[in-house]
Amino acid sequence: MTPEEASALLDAAAAEASAALTNAATMADLDEVAREFIGKKSRATAVNEAIKAMPPDARPVVGQALSAYRATVGEQINARRAELQAAERAQRLEAERLDLTLGTHGYRRGHLHLITQVRRELEDIFVGLGYQVAEGPEVEDDWHNFEALNIPAAHPARSMQDTLFVDLGEPEQVLLRTHTSPMQVRIMESGPPPVYVVSPGKVFRNETSDARHSPVFHQLEGFAVDQGITMADLFGTIEAFAKRLFDDESVTTRFRSDFFPYTEPSAELAVSCVFCQQAGCRVCSHTGWIELGGCGMIDPNVFKAVGYDPEQWQGFAFGFGLERIAMIRHAIDEIRHFFESDIRFLEQF
Ligand code: DAH
Repeated sequence: MTPEEASALLDAAAAEASAALTNAATMADLDEVAREFIGKKSRATAVNEAIKAMPPDARPVVGQALSAYRATVGEQINARRAELQAAERAQRLEAERLDLTLGTHGYRRGHLHLITQVRRELEDIFVGLGYQVAEGPEVEDDWHNFEALNIPAAHPARSMQDTLFVDLGEPEQVLLRTHTSPMQVRIMESGPPPVYVVSPGKVFRNETSDARHSPVFHQLEGFAVDQGITMADLFGTIEAFAKRLFDDESVTTRFRSDFFPYTEPSAELAVSCVFCQQAGCRVCSHTGWIELGGCGMIDPNVFKAVGYDPEQWQGFAFGFGLERIAMIRHAIDEIRHFFESDIRFLEQF
């Protein structure tokens, strides 16, 4: 190697080294660059070996060029190392950063329970039809829950609903209401007709819970008392309600003979399945109809119990389960979800 070749080789190596350093992204890359350009097997070592065979007067010049090369490349490597370390440290600090400002854990905004939403929606529909909303006590007496509703003691209809009694006063006289129907009695006792009232609220039954039954659930009672009211008014009201509830003008209703002591005649009410247009689906159990509750014309005995003259006044009444409506609407197959307060369930609605 001539002195000229040696210095050309060092110049080329220096240029290559600085390009390689710009590309070095990790400490391992840096070590690789150091090995290649100033390590034992580098071109610097080769030049150092070649010096020995050069003419004596050329040696110091090449020797200086070699030192300068080593110094420059060494400095560049150190500078790049410092840069990479600073970047690594900044990255680590960022990763370990603790954000102590408020609100980063997210304020989760709450909303009304699905049953409350359904209750308010039903109230709105009936208010739109001219009804008033009234809430009554959850702890009732035998008179309002049974007796005045034409369900005398020992009447078999009492066993239609398993009652939870409250240990107060005479035995089996104070109870958790088994339905919202006692509100018919309370409202009628409190003033003369005409009345158009809906009454939503909790009801209680001594029942073991399963997918469709719960010892606590919600109903909405509705009733109208006026002059000249007929079953056609009941049918029309329920149909208007059903169309609004499902927001579907094609919904129709079905009334099938049933028995409730406080209505005569009584009917089970169902609406045509809006999910399958009556072709049959899971929601309607392939019957084309969704049962919503019971209804009928208020029994004259109920009017007598509250002091209304059954010759002068007529009325109809109906009752729905709110959970049932929510379950149908949202394809929920477990009534217990409503009472378990699991946020993962509730936040979906
Ligand atoms: N009270 C009944 C129940 O809990 C529902 C019901 C049926 C209410 C007929 C009514 C009615 O007002 O007329 O199952």
